[in-house]
Amino acid sequence: MVQKKSFYQQYAPYFVKGTEYTLALAVIGVTVGFVLGTLLAMMKRSRVWIIKAIGNIYVEFVRGTPLLIQVFIVYFGTQIIGLNVSGFVSGAIAMFLNSGAYVAEIIRSGLNAVPVGQGEAARSLGLSRQLTMQLVVLPQALRTILPALGNEFVSVIKEGSVVSVIGVGELTFQTSVVQGASFEAFLPLIVTACIYFVLTFGLTQVLHVGERHFNRERA
Ligand code: ARG
Repeated sequence: MVQKKSFYQQYAPYFVKGTEYTLALAVIGVTVGFVLGTLLAMMKRSRVWIIKAIGNIYVEFVRGTPLLIQVFIVYFGTQIIGLNVSGFVSGAIAMFLNSGAYVAEIIRSGLNAVPVGQGEAARSLGLSRQLTMQLVVLPQALRTILPALGNEFVSVIKEGSVVSVIGVGELTFQTSVVQGASFEAFLPLIVTACIYFVLTFGLTQVLHVGERHFNRERA
């Protein structure tokens, strides 16, 4: 008699593949999003009004529209302009374009959280604008920026589920595949929820350790 494979033996590869895609999307989203976000934060602080306006409009627009719509815009938009990129590439682009706007706000609020007196004191001691930022404001701002970036990473892992709508084989997409193949509606969802939870909870724990390490010399 042929031994029937258990649900897990049969469908584990789908969940593994999905998890890989989900992590890849999140890593690209956050790292490229960080570069874009830093650029946007600098644009928003620019003294040239047009640069400042572009930075502001971008951030407000991206934060004010649903990620789902942005994913569709990138997916169909790239086709319209003749770029034949895969769903994964479109999804990754949408993720970092979206995350960049949130990172810009994280950096802006981190810099604003440093008391103005700190910068003023440095300037009155004769430090240039750039050195004041580099040696006095930024190091203090990092205390608020780094934990918030960690939270952004967690958000991006979860929000990545949205790109399943354009057929990217990440975790949420694979869940539907398993549902269809196994005629099980419920179990795959629970497995998926557990995987997401392990990813985000694991990451949060790592971030807590990092945060404690970062704040250790603080009185
Ligand atoms: N779900 C919300 C949306 O569709 C939030 C997206 C959050 N994105 C992020 N990078 N933190 O707009």
